[in-house]
Amino acid sequence: MKIGKTKVNDELDLSKLPQHIAIIMDGNGRWAKKRGLPRKFGHKAGCDNIKKITRNIFDLGIKIVTYFAFSTENWKRPKEEIDEIFNLIRKYVEENTEDFVSDGIKVTFCGKYEELPKDIVDSFKKVQNETKYCSKNVLNFAVNYGGRDEIIRAVNKAIKIGEPVTEQSFAKLLDNGNLVDPDFVIRTSGELRISNFMLYEMAYSEFYFCKTYWPSFGNKELQEALISYQNRNRRFGSIK
Ligand code: IPE
Ligand code: IPE
Ligand code: MG
Repeated sequence: MKIGKTKVNDELDLSKLPQHIAIIMDGNGRWAKKRGLPRKFGHKAGCDNIKKITRNIFDLGIKIVTYFAFSTENWKRPKEEIDEIFNLIRKYVEENTEDFVSDGIKVTFCGKYEELPKDIVDSFKKVQNETKYCSKNVLNFAVNYGGRDEIIRAVNKAIKIGEPVTEQSFAKLLDNGNLVDPDFVIRTSGELRISNFMLYEMAYSEFYFCKTYWPSFGNKELQEALISYQNRNRRFGSIK
């Protein structure tokens, strides 16, 4: 069966999908190295893959996807590589804004992205503004994002407001406060860690780790991950 341009695995139950997938896209550098290419080619291939996989994710009926694109720790990398990553995201959102609007895709950003170079910030704000009334899907990018940093900024907002917080009111102060928590988190490339991603929001997420490097993670791998998700028993502390 096909939905839109997406071929659907027979084993996938389309009525049991997560609402929000968060993806730690890892392995761009190793993907390039394996091919004898500089790291930037890995980032380019990784960015092209975002476009493809986002289409598959939304075709299947999943509402929200968050991509971890640049962490607060990634500043330890060479400046040239950092600039390359920002420019790839900028180019991607600029070139696809019209399609986002016509397809009902709201583009959002989380993290301290306002501290990035001005042309990048301007471009991110523009696409956020132009897609703000879109309501079919959310395409969320975590850029200059750290889970601890997000929590600390939310704590400082709460201090400014000056009232005690509840779990619900505190969650609203987070960058991702308007989104449901990710039900499902995928990390590619074989690393078994969170690397400071969405620490508060992942309290009850299901996790999936696979060896595939991000640029090679396609529709087939996505649906294998989703089948694994569907076979989990999410108890949330109960005995069901
Ligand atoms: C993930 O790929 C992309 C970012 C962190 C921006 P990496 O660049 O971390 O690739 P590896 O882990 O070195 O292979
Ligand atoms: C995590 O990948 C960050 C992103 C995917 C943006 P890293 O490659 O930076 O993580 P570590 O250093 O292996 O933990
Ligand atoms: Mg990495």
